[in-house]
Amino acid sequence: MGFHIERGDITTYAVDAIVNAANCSLLGGGGVDGAIHRAAGPQLLEECRTLGGCETGKAKLTAGYRLPARYVIHTPGPVWHGGDRGEAGLLRSCYESCLALAERHGCRTVAFPSISTGVYRYPLPQAAEIAVDAIETFLATASSVEEVTMVCFDGGTEQAYRAVLEGRG
Ligand code: APR
Repeated sequence: MGFHIERGDITTYAVDAIVNAANCSLLGGGGVDGAIHRAAGPQLLEECRTLGGCETGKAKLTAGYRLPARYVIHTPGPVWHGGDRGEAGLLRSCYESCLALAERHGCRTVAFPSISTGVYRYPLPQAAEIAVDAIETFLATASSVEEVTMVCFDGGTEQAYRAVLEGRG
């Protein structure tokens, strides 16, 4: 129950929804976006083409196709420009939008990657603080979503999230 942190590859998670750290086109890319599209197969891109893109901080849902997850929730995170262009609010909005969408679709289990901390260069410690706070705040009043996993692809990311969780007691 609740929020936990794991090391792993999000494309292997058999949860109701995995989140994709996408870009605004929703037409695929590198990083976790590329991994999810490769694992889901071409039908994912076909469905994404019908969505008309997505604004930073918002989220859109598709089927999971060949993935073990039922749904993919795509959210473009903010690119880091130093922190004075509203990046923190936009990053928090990614987590909130994805969880609200998961709730609306009756999801019980959701897995996130560390949004914006790769290609988009968001500093990991600040991003982890925002992510953990947004997720734990949401879970306090959620009715459908019961379990949220932060899936960390590398050791440094896992350490950063565990440090935030320990700091929250
Ligand atoms: N499972 C879980 N996490 C992963 C995986 C995976 N299979 N592959 C990569 N990651 C991690 C990265 O190590 C990083 O910690 O996801 C986190 C986010 O990194 P990116 O995928 O680079 O995403 P982001 O920083 O949000 O940049 C988004 O990159 O791939 C493009 O199309 C995407 O333009 C968009 C941009």
